[in-house]
Amino acid sequence: MIDKIKEQIAEVSSFTTDNLDAVEAFRIKYLGKKGVLNDFFAEFKNVPNEQKKEFGQTINQLKQAATEKVELLKQALEQNASEEKLFGDLTRPGNPTELGARHPISIVKNKIIDIFSRIGFNVSEGPEIEDDWHNFTALNLPEYHPARDMQDTFFVQTNPDILLRTHTSSVQVRYMENNKPPIRTISPGRVYRNEAISARSHCFFHQVEGLYIDKDVSFADLKQTLQYFTTELFGKSKIRLRPSYFPFTEPSAEVDVYWGLETETDYKMTKGTGWLEIMGCGMVDPNVLKNCNIDPEIYSGFAFGMGIDRIALLLHQISDIRLLSENDIRFLEQFKSSL
Ligand code: PHE
Repeated sequence: MIDKIKEQIAEVSSFTTDNLDAVEAFRIKYLGKKGVLNDFFAEFKNVPNEQKKEFGQTINQLKQAATEKVELLKQALEQNASEEKLFGDLTRPGNPTELGARHPISIVKNKIIDIFSRIGFNVSEGPEIEDDWHNFTALNLPEYHPARDMQDTFFVQTNPDILLRTHTSSVQVRYMENNKPPIRTISPGRVYRNEAISARSHCFFHQVEGLYIDKDVSFADLKQTLQYFTTELFGKSKIRLRPSYFPFTEPSAEVDVYWGLETETDYKMTKGTGWLEIMGCGMVDPNVLKNCNIDPEIYSGFAFGMGIDRIALLLHQISDIRLLSENDIRFLEQFKSSL
């Protein structure tokens, strides 16, 4: 009988598995109610008295060996499991990484920057929270000037001197204050106007404004520059300049580009005229130059400004301006560009 127990002890010590269920089956087989150990204990009363001591000790050895084995195997397997949780299955293929896409506004902005940088324009930026001087007064829009109403303004708190810029012309004022002519700069950035939000207009949007100041700059230079720009951006070189009004330019004009009337979309986009209005422009008003410490007797210049969002909508046939700020990944991932 004692030999049988010893055989079991040998079996227990050589047992191994990497499966938790097998450990449990092993525990039940040896330590369970109807297990091997209890069978041996039941034999105890039949063992001759002189062998009882050795028999008892051997059973205890078996019990200890089985208990230790169960503990050991359990511990090892649990540790493996937690390591697996930590590192995962190291043989599985890597996670597919989503490639990002540029925002359509950035794409158009970068294209515009690229086009103007080729003819010597640099990029200037300024604050979105502006003061009255840089957004209005220096631009020939003194207090109570009716044209201030053209750009419904968000004021910051109750201070009428601090506001969210309504155009990036404010950056041009800052640039002229800090740089001597010749100046060739474009200013892209976000602007704010207190307007009802709809498919066609938003209370914030993006502009690129351009400024060129030097000796003997003429309206012809402006037209040439704009023609170069529309050819590069839209592939269209036919433009027209319609007389318009801006307080900071004189004369001022609205720029239309001839889009054509070849497709149904052309008809829709141009409302049947073939022409698309794309920006405002003009010769910088001498008062503005004076306000920025540039002598209008020596220097002249032109300025222009356009909405990036509108151009993005046009170029990509997007029907609702709100899509541009909703950050819906299904919308955004459709735009891929190297710029
Ligand atoms: N600042 C004008 C606007 O926001 C655009 C413009 C810029 C017009 C420069 C003329 C010259 O509407």
